[in-house]
Amino acid sequence: MQKITAAITAVGGYVPEYRLTNKILETMVDTNDEWIRTRTGVEERRILKGEGLASSDMGVEAVKEILKKRNIDPTEIDCVICATVTPDMVFPATANLICDKAGMVNAFGYDMSAACSGFLYALTTGATYIESGRYKKVIVVGADKMSAIVDYTDRTTCIIFGDGAGAVLLEPNHQGLGVLDSIMKSDGSGARHLHMKAGGSLRPATAETVANKEHYIYQEGQAVFKFAVKGMADVSYELMQRNNLTADDIAWLVPHQANLRIIDATANRMDLPKEKVMINIQKYGNTTAGTLPLCLWDWEKQLKKGDNIILASFGGGFTWGATWVKWAYDSK
Ligand code: UT7
Repeated sequence: MQKITAAITAVGGYVPEYRLTNKILETMVDTNDEWIRTRTGVEERRILKGEGLASSDMGVEAVKEILKKRNIDPTEIDCVICATVTPDMVFPATANLICDKAGMVNAFGYDMSAACSGFLYALTTGATYIESGRYKKVIVVGADKMSAIVDYTDRTTCIIFGDGAGAVLLEPNHQGLGVLDSIMKSDGSGARHLHMKAGGSLRPATAETVANKEHYIYQEGQAVFKFAVKGMADVSYELMQRNNLTADDIAWLVPHQANLRIIDATANRMDLPKEKVMINIQKYGNTTAGTLPLCLWDWEKQLKKGDNIILASFGGGFTWGATWVKWAYDSK
């Protein structure tokens, strides 16, 4: 009997209405549209506005789209993993809140904290639940309200990040389609280059940590950039080699959307032409755990059953990795 693989059988996504354009950012910090576009590739990003709205509110919209598209009752879902670095609260998990908001009362859920690689880590984890034969419907969400932790007076970070969420449904497949291989890596010594200083058990929130702006993203851009270029390109290439995949075999690269120059370096290393690379950084910026599923969401209609897709990421931790997926359906 063919072994069970975890197929992605539906995709959902959500981005907030409000567009924070480069022009608007020019009025907020000392920057300009030309610099942002040429150094990062971002033209605008979406921001979740409104009191009482958080990552779960975006994640649940992506999940509801999946349930509606597939006409699945929420009670059928076994498990929800939500990748996020901007959980609604430190606890309970955002996944629990999403389950409640969507009526997925039979699902267990938890959050995955792996920054920009969160979705990829969660996808690999969710796939193993399906491969085990124990669970039939697992939803993996990537949701981040980055505007909650961005310092809008820091021109080196506020220009990159945006808010958004995406989700995929994983189901058993017996034709060899779905998540076929993954290489996941992490290196905690990279923490010093990209982190949030306070709010955890090391430096609980105080009036001082707030005054010192320690609840925002701290990023040493150039250092992270160097590691990201090497990390994402190397791991993607390693995954190709390990599976004897050539550039011709690959239909799409789905790269984390942190910086267009990092994406280009990865595609070059894999010898892939630009037409095979999903890029939507210009309209959403870096939505952290949201980037990969939002690419799948934007490109879903162009994907064909049997397409070889490589998803790749690099982010805080450091965390990085690449996953090979054989696409399981043609969109109607
Ligand atoms: O997704 C999680 C992982 N994160 C990443 O992968 C991000 C990796 N890093 C990057 O994408 C880039 O390092 C940044 C986009 C953050 C910065 O780009 P860069 O090309 O590395 O710029 P830089 O920090 O080397 O700065 C170059 C110059 C500096 O001016 P001087 O010293 O040459 O006069 C900066 O002060 O650009 C200046 N600068 C800006 N100028 C206009 C920095 N930010 C801005 C800005 N607008 N927003």
